[in-house]
Amino acid sequence: MVMPTYIFLILKNPVLFSQIGCLLTSRFTFILAAVGSAVGLGNIWRFPYIMGQNGGAIFLIVYLVLILTICFIPLFAELAVGKITKKECIGAYESINPKFKFLGFLNPLTGILISSFYFIVGGWIIDYIYLSIADTKIADYGDYFGFFTQNSVSACAFTLIFLLMCILFTARGVKKGIEFANYVLMPLFAVILVCLIIFSLNLPNAKLGLEYMFKPDFSKINAQMFLAALGQALFTLSIGMGALLTYGSYIKEDKNITKSTYTIIFSDTLFALMAGIMIFPAIFSFGLEPSSGAGLVFITIPQIFAQIPHGNIVSAAFFILLLAAAITSGISIIEVPIASMVERWKLTRGKACLILFCIISVFSIPATLSFGILSGFKILDKNIFDFLDFITSSVLMPINALFLCIIAGWFLKIRGEHFIQNKIIAKLFDIGLKYVVPIILIALLYIGLK
Ligand code: PHE
Repeated sequence: MVMPTYIFLILKNPVLFSQIGCLLTSRFTFILAAVGSAVGLGNIWRFPYIMGQNGGAIFLIVYLVLILTICFIPLFAELAVGKITKKECIGAYESINPKFKFLGFLNPLTGILISSFYFIVGGWIIDYIYLSIADTKIADYGDYFGFFTQNSVSACAFTLIFLLMCILFTARGVKKGIEFANYVLMPLFAVILVCLIIFSLNLPNAKLGLEYMFKPDFSKINAQMFLAALGQALFTLSIGMGALLTYGSYIKEDKNITKSTYTIIFSDTLFALMAGIMIFPAIFSFGLEPSSGAGLVFITIPQIFAQIPHGNIVSAAFFILLLAAAITSGISIIEVPIASMVERWKLTRGKACLILFCIISVFSIPATLSFGILSGFKILDKNIFDFLDFITSSVLMPINALFLCIIAGWFLKIRGEHFIQNKIIAKLFDIGLKYVVPIILIALLYIGLK
């Protein structure tokens, strides 16, 4: 009998455990870490603003359809490729075929580019925690956000503080931290979101926000919206930059990744929907513009807190919990290049973290300045921050996901029957992985970028 390629690969490659690797060997903590990677700023900060820029309810429909139909497949495939090859990204692709090594490099590169804008938003959160604790009264949050992001020194300092926090958590014993963040802080975060939703739904004109979110306006359909929805779906589920592949490489043989896939999708979508239901009623109630861009959440949420008695305490709690969610995602982003440096080039974790800190700073400082002194510098009509966001989520992540499906389906020959009991679903999975998802990804990339 011919041995399937992936069994051969498992036998050939001994597992190289890193600190995070040790944590992920138990199925429960693995799910916590993978959900921690998915649930983050993508749900609370990015989802409402991208939805606001792309027509509201109609975007939500396309996004949910993509999440519930096609995203399951690359998500599952990414975990499976990691679990089967037991290697970090570059090694994983190389072990399938040395010609695919460059695809492996594309993953950590995407991760570095994502970090360059993701960590800036982490910096904004730290500033808002400081504002809440100091109980600073702000008359107009729109003006404040503009003023703060334009101030080069403080904006860069906060970005670097957030980057440093993620790097330190990754370099040192993160096991307890990740467990605590996901097991204790995440449910607390959900509770605070539910309270804010109730408050938001009782604001005047809240109905307009719900209509914006759930009553589709079909005239707003356009090609870019489909690509934006795909980009958001991949970004929020952490698909297409190697984070799940790297985490998957730490999973033990007997662990079932099908359930993990459902859990990641379910919890991530729940948090995104909660964020939307909290934010859109407030946007309409305060007369803000849903399409106002990256600052949307940072301008809207503080206005909710301003109306709550002892709002600064609730605000501090909210932003501290959001910070925890951002850190668990940030850790998963930087774990990709760090795993490559540690496992491939045999650097110590400390050295790898230091090198990565320098590399990400080089990219994220100009991106931070793109709200201030570099605001006039445009690439494809976007400032550096928006360009990095666009190029990663709407171009690199779909491309990485496309190659991942092709390699998993055609070269590694991952088959549904090995993971899924129901024969029909297993067959549908195979067709999806080999044909449907790659074709949809190519089509969306083509029509969206044309
Ligand atoms: N999914 C994370 C979020 O929603 C961001 C992320 C992207 C994490 C890509 C890892 C890989 O915040």
